[in-house]
Amino acid sequence: MKVLGIDIGGTGIKGAVVDTKRGVLKTDRVRLLTPEHPDPANVSSVLATIVRHFDWDGPVGCTFPGVTKDGAIHTAANLVPEWIGQDAAATFGRATGCPVTVLNDADAAGLAETAFGAAAARGGLVITVTLGTGIGTAVLHDGVLVPNTELGHLPLHGGDAEKYASELVRERENLDYPTWGGRVGEYLRLLEDLLWPDLFIIGGGISKRADRFFPYIECRTEMVAARLLNQAGIVGAALAAAQHHAKHKPKRSK
Ligand code: BGC
Repeated sequence: MKVLGIDIGGTGIKGAVVDTKRGVLKTDRVRLLTPEHPDPANVSSVLATIVRHFDWDGPVGCTFPGVTKDGAIHTAANLVPEWIGQDAAATFGRATGCPVTVLNDADAAGLAETAFGAAAARGGLVITVTLGTGIGTAVLHDGVLVPNTELGHLPLHGGDAEKYASELVRERENLDYPTWGGRVGEYLRLLEDLLWPDLFIIGGGISKRADRFFPYIECRTEMVAARLLNQAGIVGAALAAAQHHAKHKPKRSK
């Protein structure tokens, strides 16, 4: 089916129509800036603009950078606290006039990479780690997602791991690739000791420059760069909406 996938990030909000059977974009990708004050009203109006741009009235799948359960937001570490307790699916639904499914951004990336990308047809324990404004994680076992793992907030050196090894930290502290790659390695070893994964998928915008920092990451687990790059959130969001739709569609009476 066709679903409009939308990915809410710290700097940009991106959308495209996705063919959820093949995991490919059916339209160009549109990207608008994340509002300076990214509260529910401002983010909703960006979503409404994207929906109008595509003249869309079908299902929408949308990522959110925080803990998301049944469309409701429980944390928003890198947005604004006004989100907490909000029913994002209902708010976005009202703003766009479309049925909206909402899930964590890293979970969306993990779903997309497992269905169509770097871990397609791989079993075992696969952890997708997205390096961006924060660190997001998606844990899938034999293709089944354990949602909202939030392992970017594990303690490392006395603080949140994402405050030590995210892509934003690399930029802010002007770290060179050997230093930053070393920090990412420390973080991955922490995950390894806890969960013994079979594969790490490293995502986020920086994954397209994997050759620059992968050589400095030391860990024992096989590690690959995300294949869907900056489309993973959009594709995963659309996929989650398609799955939700299939599960909840009214049964035909005989
Ligand atoms: C949030 C996660 C999110 C990650 C990447 C973290 O700060 O808590 O929910 O997946 O950033 O955006």
